[in-house]
Amino acid sequence: MKIVLFGKNGQLGWEFQRTLPILGEVIALDRREVDLCDLHAVERTLSELRPDLIVNASAYTDVDLAEKETDLSMKINALAPGLIAEMSRKLRAVLIHYSTDYVFDGSKNGLYTERDTATPLNMYGKSKLAGEENIDQAGDSYLILRTSWVYSLRGNNFVNKVLGWSRQTKTLKVVSDQVSGPTWARPLAEITSFVLAQNKKALYESMRERHGIYHLAGSGSASRYEWAKQILANDPEPSKQIVQTIEPARSEDFPTPAVRPLFSALDCSHFEATFGLKLPPWDQTLKLAMSS
Ligand SMILES: NC(=O)c1ccc[n+]([C@@H]2O[C@H](COP(=O)([O-])OP(=O)(O)OC[C@H]3O[C@@H](n4cnc5c(N)ncnc54)[C@H](OP(=O)(O)O)[C@@H]3O)[C@@H](O)[C@H]2O)c1
Repeated sequence: MKIVLFGKNGQLGWEFQRTLPILGEVIALDRREVDLCDLHAVERTLSELRPDLIVNASAYTDVDLAEKETDLSMKINALAPGLIAEMSRKLRAVLIHYSTDYVFDGSKNGLYTERDTATPLNMYGKSKLAGEENIDQAGDSYLILRTSWVYSLRGNNFVNKVLGWSRQTKTLKVVSDQVSGPTWARPLAEITSFVLAQNKKALYESMRERHGIYHLAGSGSASRYEWAKQILANDPEPSKQIVQTIEPARSEDFPTPAVRPLFSALDCSHFEATFGLKLPPWDQTLKLAMSS
């Protein structure tokens, strides 16, 4: 099986470089090799490589900057995925794509299911929702996996930010009114690759039968404040911390260009019912991630 991976250096893409080889030959690409803004380059690359499977781990993920760079975020998160889906249909390749809990506005009083109406509050969420719609129109054998609060132990993410702050400040204030499901990129890549491996025979047909949107995130939910407390509790180098207290704050205390949904945790039971798998509780996974 020939696999094209877009976004190989992102949090998720990095993990996919380790999990996808169980399935076949992986051609992992970064922005310098193929810029998703260059639709001709995307089309040319896929036409030449003729993969059986395309994993799109790339995205425009700067939620605040997306408010300004609307055209760019739409190109990367909506136009390119639509073209990739069109190409995957032409080539009879399976497409795996990721979306976000930020397609929801947070006003539901409970976990979001795939049947809930998506009404994003910010440009990032709008561009990701447009990407879902474009894939749905152009593709046929695809999975769109909506996930939330993705982290890894490398790069610029909430876990590393909290660790950094804990070494610089004695009092840490973290918002307690934003709630979702922290998701470690490693098991997210593993569970995706495992589902693909389980269906390797007739992959195109079996994913076409089950194509659509699925929620897939760390089990349970937490506020950013609760998440930060667990990050500090699992710090592999606690002696470096100078932080003495961690206090809950409200989103309005930290105004940001993009409005974020207050509660966007995902109900992942549709994925579990379909594929027989789910991600472990977010706090157990965090412990494992931080001790690895
Ligand atoms: N991070 C989260 O909290 C979160 C939450 C929910 C859903 N998701 C979704 O999960 C997926 C993976 O997210 P992630 O956290 O792994 O993202 P990430 O770490 O920000 O990585 C995104 C990757 O996309 C690449 N990329 C951006 N623009 C590109 C372009 N024009 N051409 C080619 N590549 C480009 C980036 O390349 P460079 O390294 O060169 O910039 C980067 O490697 C995305 O679909 C995201 O929307 C993420």
